[in-house]
Amino acid sequence: MTRHAIVTGASRGIGRAIALGLAERGYDLALTDISPQQATLEAVAGEVAERGRRCVTILADVSDPEDCRRSAAEAVRGLGHVDALVNNAGILKLASIEELTPALWDATLAVNARGVFQMTQALIPHMRERRYGRIVNIASLAARTGGPGQSHYAASKSAVVGFTRVSSMELGQYGITVNAVCPGIIQTEMGMNNLRDPERVAYFEKVTDLHRLGNPEDVVGPVAFFASDDSAFVTGQALNVDGGIFYS
Ligand SMILES: NC(=O)c1ccc[n+]([C@@H]2O[C@H](COP(=O)([O-])OP(=O)(O)OC[C@H]3O[C@@H](n4cnc5c(N)ncnc54)[C@H](O)[C@@H]3O)[C@@H](O)[C@H]2O)c1
Repeated sequence: MTRHAIVTGASRGIGRAIALGLAERGYDLALTDISPQQATLEAVAGEVAERGRRCVTILADVSDPEDCRRSAAEAVRGLGHVDALVNNAGILKLASIEELTPALWDATLAVNARGVFQMTQALIPHMRERRYGRIVNIASLAARTGGPGQSHYAASKSAVVGFTRVSSMELGQYGITVNAVCPGIIQTEMGMNNLRDPERVAYFEKVTDLHRLGNPEDVVGPVAFFASDDSAFVTGQALNVDGGIFYS
């Protein structure tokens, strides 16, 4: 049976790489992103189609509970069933704690943490009925350490790791596994927050065991593992995908 997955925030960066990587592994896909990303989302859908897989695109904001319910319903209707949910959508706007506003704190938690909860909740009835599900949450190295200007982001990603653990406890009885991936320094538009200063780049290369930055494609294998039957007895885990970084 062909496997089907939903990937949120799939129009660029890590989400796009996951979409193409899952397509290459034989998944049909439902890809979501916010409406300003419509053209790039459609371009990714075209790349999925070039790989011979079916692709549904859905414009939806993961911070909006109604959009999450609609995403789940449209994915199930468009694909027939959904095996895997990859909660990838995320935002990072740097601000020191002194500069941080309640609005930026709330917006960050709403997308990065509440979005994961809302998409998970929206898919549970379908996965529970089929007694099968693979949920993969994209957390971050920031859940372990974080960097200056990322207190709100680190809090949101720590929430994702905690939510992953309890989701695993609650959903295991229905054949649903829930795991998280914690990427390190990955070269994407978001990753540029860490990479504008050449000295920071040199520093990250030095403190990473593999002595290089990550590419979006580096995140794909671990996500595909958690989305597949190869990880059938693995749940509640958070795996660092960071090249072996010592962050100080
Ligand atoms: N790049 C890194 O170094 C890094 C490291 C650790 C974790 N991550 C995480 O990986 C994930 C992908 O990040 P990326 O580096 O590809 O970033 P990115 O900014 O390139 O892509 C994020 C995607 O999420 C989408 N998005 C933003 N808000 C959304 C919303 N409300 N609803 C739906 N989609 C929304 C964006 O439009 C974009 O397509 C994020 O969860 C991020 O926190 C990234």
